[in-house]
Formats: sequence, structure tokens, C-alpha cells
Amino acid sequence: METKTKNSIQLLTAIPGPKSQEVLARRVAALPAGAARSTDVVVDSARGAVIKDVDGNTLLDFAGGIGMINVGHSPSNVVNAVKRQLDKFIHTCQIVTTMEAPIQLAELLNRIAPGDFAKKTLLCNSGSEAVENAINIAKYYTQRPAVIVFEGAYHGRTHLTLSLTSKYNLFKKGFGSMVSDIYRLPAPNMYRVPEGMSAQKYLDYCIARIDEALISQVDPSAVAAILIEPVLGEGGFIPVPAPFLQKLRDVADQHGIVLILMKSNVAWGVRETLGL
Ligand SMILES: Cc1ncc(COP(=O)(O)O)c(C=O)c1O
Repeated sequence: METKTKNSIQLLTAIPGPKSQEVLARRVAALPAGAARSTDVVVDSARGAVIKDVDGNTLLDFAGGIGMINVGHSPSNVVNAVKRQLDKFIHTCQIVTTMEAPIQLAELLNRIAPGDFAKKTLLCNSGSEAVENAINIAKYYTQRPAVIVFEGAYHGRTHLTLSLTSKYNLFKKGFGSMVSDIYRLPAPNMYRVPEGMSAQKYLDYCIARIDEALISQVDPSAVAAILIEPVLGEGGFIPVPAPFLQKLRDVADQHGIVLILMKSNVAWGVRETLGL
């Protein structure tokens, strides 16, 4: 394994090489600067965990499309499945005709999602669309306006999801007013327990803040949804302790609020189920 890794990294030019520099200049001219560019690697092809750039350099990919390519780049079984589908047809729209593939995927997700009850899957184009729909469904179901979210959370860049997202400076600065009826509470960070406080005391304090907020910030009868990432992603890859999640479950059950857990690594479960 070690030898393979060593052989996988081969540098023929500086990064970026001449061909890469040319493409990067075209990127600057043709695409908006809004999406940050964190490396100067210009990819030509990729297999497994190895990326080859347009100058012939090969590099190890530690990003994997930011956690989206959990099965590695272009594994043959995925590529062949895509090819098989393209040979049949590309798209007809589920509103116009019924296609079996999305049903198969929904059945798989319904099977592996936790819980022993009948489930349905809403397939979306992006995480932001998933969050927007989850909130819309919760508001429609409860006929209530408010949403509770947490500090450090990332929920996307559309107008609603930006409003739900925490970090102000990085994501929201300069974009003007945001959607109303959103209430933000601190989430416990067990890696940063305040000095002089035991972990248990800190957790109890964070849990107590939920009850406080339902008096001082918003009445529970106005809350449609509580939205949380069980592992804060953008917020620092911080797991939310189980007693805190249990408290949210209890509050939601007590007041008829929809509890929404956003998980960005569902692909891991799919990978394990497919045996990839
Ligand atoms: C937890 C979570 N919610 C929402 C999003 C937004 O997803 P997208 O960029 O696909 O709109 C992300 C993306 O990183 C995410 O990690």
C-alpha cells in the first residue's frame, strides 16, 4: 500500500504547470469568482484516489469532491452502470413518465435509513434543495412559521438555507436581509468545554438553554422545525452529544415540532450497502 502511494505521486512540473496555468486564466475570465478556488490543480483524469493533472502530474486526492466521491474516482462498476443507463435513455422527467432507476434508489435509501417503519425518499439536486424542502414540508405540515437552528451549522447558499446557516462573515456578509422566523441556539462543543466547568455541567447547561429559548426567544407552538447536523460539518466536524439530540427529540415530540437531522455523508451508507 505504501509503495503504491509513493508511486502515485509523480511531479513533472511545478503546480500549476504551464497547461494548468492556461486553463486557470480561462477560469478567471469565464467563471464568477464566488466559488472559492482552494488549489491550482487542473484535473485531466482521475482513478481511485489519484488525480492526473493536465500537465501529466499525478497527485493523491484527499478531498474526493468534498466527501462526494466516497467510492473513489470512476470505479468500473459505477462507470458501467452509468453507461448502461445512457445507452437506454438520458432523461424523460419523472413528472412526464415514470423511470424505474429513481424508484430503485429510493427503495435502497428507505431500506438503509434507520427506523422500522414505512419510509419515503425525496430525491433532490443538492443539499440546499433538500434542506429547503424539509423546511417547507415541516411548515406545511405544522402550519407554523418558525425554525430553530444552531450556531456553527451549514445548510447551503440559497436564500433560505443561507439564512439558516450560521457563520455570518464567511457566508452572509453583504447579502442584505435574511429570511425571518429563524432562531439560532448554541450547539454543545465537547472539545471546547469552558474552563473550570465539567463536561457534564456544560452539557446540562446547553440542554437547559433549549428550554430557556422556548420561553425567551420563541413559543414552541410557533415552531415548525428544529434543524440540526448531528455532526457539524462546516462548524468543525463536531459530533453533537446524544443527550442533546435526545433533548431535541423530546422537545419536538412534546410540542408537535418536526425534528430534521441533516447528514452530509449518506453516501457512506450507500457504499456499504452496495459492497463497494
Ligand atoms: C449538512 C449540509 N447541508 C447542506 C449542504 C448544502 O449542499 P449543496 O452545496 O449541495 O447545496 C451541505 C453541503 O456541504 C451540507 O454539508
